[in-house]
Amino acid sequence: MSNLPCRPIATMPLLIRPVAATPHVPAVAAWLHAQWWQAGGHSLDATAAFLRKATGPAAPCALVAERDGVPLGTATFDTDDLPARPDLSPWLASVFVTSAARRQGVATALVKAVEAMAATQGVRRLWLFTPDQAPFYAARGWVQAGVEEYRGSPVVLMQRDFP
Ligand SMILES: CC(C)(COP(=O)(O)OP(=O)(O)OC[C@H]1O[C@@H](n2cnc3c(N)ncnc32)[C@H](O)[C@@H]1OP(=O)(O)O)[C@@H](O)C(=O)NCCC(=O)NCCS
Repeated sequence: MSNLPCRPIATMPLLIRPVAATPHVPAVAAWLHAQWWQAGGHSLDATAAFLRKATGPAAPCALVAERDGVPLGTATFDTDDLPARPDLSPWLASVFVTSAARRQGVATALVKAVEAMAATQGVRRLWLFTPDQAPFYAARGWVQAGVEEYRGSPVVLMQRDFP
């Protein structure tokens, strides 16, 4: 009989690494395609191709968070994101966590991972935009920097400065 401890999955460590280095490209591509890329006119194949190339450590780098081999969420350190502001770079983009894995700190860990990547690359100011999650980012040190338009709707532009 095995003496292996039985551990609830939520207490297992969260592993965050570039999605290109994992078997999770198809799963992450499906999330991002359904969430944003399809509406932008991109195919699922194009989404997956971006993920395979976004290896970092310089932007672009698409990360996946997984626990016990199960992919739970993703975030990207990207060179560009908001078409209305091509003057701004780089960006925290495409933060997504599966419904079942929400409210367990997965997005918080992904945001911190992208911030750490940016700081390591010597970035002094990181940008993001969000239609409805500004309070989430504000609680994590992000500051509102204006209101912009994305696909015909207003979005909040936010910045995070590094010393
Ligand atoms: C927005 C989103 C990324 C948040 O992901 P998440 O993994 O649930 O985020 P976290 O768990 O890190 O934090 C969410 C809340 O859960 C709380 N939380 C974290 N760990 C928790 C735990 N163990 N138990 C209870 N609550 C917890 C956090 O405090 C946070 O609340 P707060 O914002 O009031 O501080 C997710 O809902 C999502 O993917 N939404 C759809 C896509 C989207 O809108 N992306 C953002 C684009 S800008």
